[in-house]
Amino acid sequence: MEDRISKLAPSILSADFCRLGEQIHELEENDIELLHIDVMDGVFVPSISFGMPVIKSIRKITDMFFDVHLMISEPIRYIEKLAECGADGITVHIEACKDLEATLRKIKEQNMKCAVAINPDTEIEKIENVLDMVDMVLVMSVYPGFGGQKFILDSFEKIKKLDDIRKSRRLDFLIEIDGGVNVDNAKKISASGADWLVAGTAVFSGNINDNIMKLKEEI
Ligand code: DX5
Ligand code: ZN
Repeated sequence: MEDRISKLAPSILSADFCRLGEQIHELEENDIELLHIDVMDGVFVPSISFGMPVIKSIRKITDMFFDVHLMISEPIRYIEKLAECGADGITVHIEACKDLEATLRKIKEQNMKCAVAINPDTEIEKIENVLDMVDMVLVMSVYPGFGGQKFILDSFEKIKKLDDIRKSRRLDFLIEIDGGVNVDNAKKISASGADWLVAGTAVFSGNINDNIMKLKEEI
């Protein structure tokens, strides 16, 4: 019997920024525990999203866990500042770091949870050497940069492979999946071994309460 429970991680990238505070409260009313915060720099990914001022502002209105997904080059430069803004956990891309281990160490030194993200074309083998030091692995199931894309089916294999590795090596990192999660695939993703399912469009497009209820039924 599996005792693992998958949970929903709404990504505020798809929120209505005019009503961000209100929508965050709506998530809280639906017992959401973690907020996925996508920071993009226009260099590592084509888009620019938002950064420190937004994180600092929303920190004032909620105690939810801030899961900050950095899609920026050389994220090591911003770890301390993000800790000051109230981040609880930081995810960095292996493809964006010159020294991944040093970057992860810096996140830990700031007493935050640390995670490594891999793009759809990056193999699990590339991060095997850091699996014993990370709190979480983020598997990108779309090419990073935009919400509303289609889930890449190969991602199921990646989740399963990571789940097998953590079992065989007796590691306790969590697995997060990000991109294209919706009511139709959430059940299968959850069953593959993912702990956190990030969803932007599927949560914020239309009625948030209904969307969360339907997603939670699946995961
Ligand atoms: C994509 C971001 C995702 C994005 C997910 O680069 O990392 O977190 O917001 O959005 P959906 O759920 O719409 O694919
Ligand atoms: Zn993300």
